[in-house]
Amino acid sequence: MIDLRSDTMTKPTPGMLAAMAAAEVGDEQEREDPTTNELQRRAAELLGQEAALFLPTATMANQVALRVLSRPGCKVVAEENTHVLIWEWGGPAIHSGLVMHGVAADAGRPTVEQIEELDNFGAGSVLVLENTHNSSGGRIWPLDEFSAVAGAARERGAAVHLDGARLLNAAVGAGLEPSAWGVLADTVTVCFSKGLGCPFGAILAGSAQTIEQAWEGKFLLGGALRQSGIAAAAMLYALDHHVERLAEDHARAKRLAEGSGLDPATVDTNFVSIPNEPGLTERLRERGIAVSDLRPGWLRAVTHLDIGDEGIAQAIESMQEVLAVRV
Ligand SMILES: Cc1ncc(COP(=O)(O)O)c(C=O)c1O
Repeated sequence: MIDLRSDTMTKPTPGMLAAMAAAEVGDEQEREDPTTNELQRRAAELLGQEAALFLPTATMANQVALRVLSRPGCKVVAEENTHVLIWEWGGPAIHSGLVMHGVAADAGRPTVEQIEELDNFGAGSVLVLENTHNSSGGRIWPLDEFSAVAGAARERGAAVHLDGARLLNAAVGAGLEPSAWGVLADTVTVCFSKGLGCPFGAILAGSAQTIEQAWEGKFLLGGALRQSGIAAAAMLYALDHHVERLAEDHARAKRLAEGSGLDPATVDTNFVSIPNEPGLTERLRERGIAVSDLRPGWLRAVTHLDIGDEGIAQAIESMQEVLAVRV
């Protein structure tokens, strides 16, 4: 089976496992894990922020960020299919008492006008911008648009959280440093268990004061670990070995779209969007290709570390057969 459901399907490589086995560790809760401390230092630098915090998942990083940036009763605003609104089980309402407000937007990118028109949006509220945007098919936020929208939220007194679960895909895809977007947000999440190939682990970056406050949320949600250096070693390994190669995933996704008669213009990174129809997922599966839901009416095929050129060639062959059956 060629598993294109998600880039979370990657398994740790032998090199990554060796780095984990060799990790120098200590008690993270005492801030004594040297490998985690080094990861946090490097991640802050990468994202253009003063400090960073290791968390087990990107969901937890997002929720900890919202808790620090907001006040109960205020709003979290995001494009309506953004991960924090639809995949985190009402976390912003449960953990931070926030009113969840989704706005419809093309390619996952609300406009300045939409931010200016919001009711009851100001101090204590948070705008979440997701880059790349998962439900729209791994689309990249152009830097100038991102900057203008973040600025519009700030002008109204709101904070800005960047859910950059796949920010390194955006950076490689756009040929920019992750910090180009990172400096424009109050807090930034990056997930390491997707294209970067780690078994788990995420980073939340922000100002030194914000990250100090975020420790409270990390404890509250049960995300304060002990020898977290085992995970941090995998994450440092990924920063050294798995970032530049994301370009290969992006090139393979483009090739898959072109070869399958799908629109390559919407392939910014490692997602291929496939118009859905009844039974399509099953027909692809019968021909050895696993895909998953993207958003209503659309499926996705996601390239990643464990899919090479041969896998893409096979996927194209199967897609051609199945999609030809469809037309
Ligand atoms: C944009 C985005 N944010 C956050 C997450 C959550 O990541 P995790 O599974 O590490 O909690 C995901 C996972 O798919 C995602 O796509």
